[in-house]
Amino acid sequence: MGKFVINGGRTLSGKVKIGGAKNSALKLIAASILSDGKITLRNVPGIEDVNIMIEVLKTLGAGVDADPENKIIEINPENINNYEAPYELVRKMRASILVAGPLLSKFGSVKVAIPGGDNIGSRQIDLHLKGFEDMGAKYSIEHGYINCRVNSNKAGARLYGAMVNLDFPSRGATENIMMAGCLADGQTVINNVAREPEIVDLANFLNSMGADVQRAGTDCIVINGVKNLKGTDYEVMPDSIEAGTFITAAGLCGSGVEIENARWRSLETFYFKLKEIGVNISIIDENNIKVDSPQKAYKPINVSTLPYPGFPTDLQPIITVLLSIVPGVSIVTENVFENRFMYVDELNRMGANIKIDGHHAVIKGVGKLSGAPVRSFDVRAGAAMVLAGLTAEGFTEVSDIYHIQRGYEDFEKKLFSLGADIKKMS
Ligand code: UD1
Repeated sequence: MGKFVINGGRTLSGKVKIGGAKNSALKLIAASILSDGKITLRNVPGIEDVNIMIEVLKTLGAGVDADPENKIIEINPENINNYEAPYELVRKMRASILVAGPLLSKFGSVKVAIPGGDNIGSRQIDLHLKGFEDMGAKYSIEHGYINCRVNSNKAGARLYGAMVNLDFPSRGATENIMMAGCLADGQTVINNVAREPEIVDLANFLNSMGADVQRAGTDCIVINGVKNLKGTDYEVMPDSIEAGTFITAAGLCGSGVEIENARWRSLETFYFKLKEIGVNISIIDENNIKVDSPQKAYKPINVSTLPYPGFPTDLQPIITVLLSIVPGVSIVTENVFENRFMYVDELNRMGANIKIDGHHAVIKGVGKLSGAPVRSFDVRAGAAMVLAGLTAEGFTEVSDIYHIQRGYEDFEKKLFSLGADIKKMS
């Protein structure tokens, strides 16, 4: 499965460039199904999850040409003739269910494996399904699959526009229903939607194909259905979670680290939390951030994860590593996923002093971590372990690194170029 071996204690400095956003690229690839013409996507990150989404599209019958060197993929959706996302792929990556909205909208039918739980908790899809139902679909669950189709015997019948109210601003549900609305008959209004910048990126992409999606980025999205969508050429936005990871790495053990393609406005809450700790972080311009050596001792703080614009759950394990070495007591509260503290036992094996109480982590800062063999539990927890290894005394071995490779492009190479002593071993 591979591991990273890190000799901690090196100072990071220099420039690092953030790649395309995983959580946008995956959705844009899925949304390409809606088009009648060729899609060109640029700035696509070279990560495992993108490879899985490409596999899903190929299984459906789409033509996909990847040019990883130039970070471009071309998708030809013309020959899609299969409407099933199989368990082998959905099991590997839950985001595969994002093909459901586009398939249902364009072809009136989809069969998708139920994703099941993962290492950050049980993850329902009830809100996705309720939205489809509100738009005139019906579904049944059989043998681990959801069969969903437009509830009409008329040939070529489409979903119809509807008012959909989400109980929680789920990103996946927002995206699936937004894509479903694009080729529906009439207007769809989705209330209480997710507002992440990646949602806006998806809306911009859909509109560049000829869709009519309005107000993305607010808590209510309006979609006026159109007859068909055309091909487009689109650049994926930069990855704010990767940016947050490198900013935190620099806060842990950096001096003069410039993070290029880091849009601080996508990371505002995180940015101000790091400032509150005392990280010497400054905005160079809209797309670039610099972290210098700390000017004073770091302070403990409290953090609560929430849907955007709240503190991102994906940066919760990352900031916890930083707080684990800040003297005093910090409290981190996880409000989005019920099981996202599994990595804490690993961090405690490195000398951290963190106790979990329900959905709170009570962190007593220890000043210094010590290197140890630890596991990755998921993409962000795995990256957090690497950050812990960078700051720890001695050697840390992070195993199960395929989790990290699902979401971080060339993670160890980028850290090495900043001066980290990190090696990938098979
Ligand atoms: C996306 C991101 C993930 C991030 C998460 C929250 C991708 C590929 N993944 O995941 O990195 O951590 O947003 O920012 O973009 N829920 C329901 N019913 C539903 C849907 C969701 O109860 O139908 C619950 C989930 O169990 C979870 C919460 O809502 O507790 C948030 O889930 P959601 O926003 O849908 O996350 P994802 O889109 O799966």
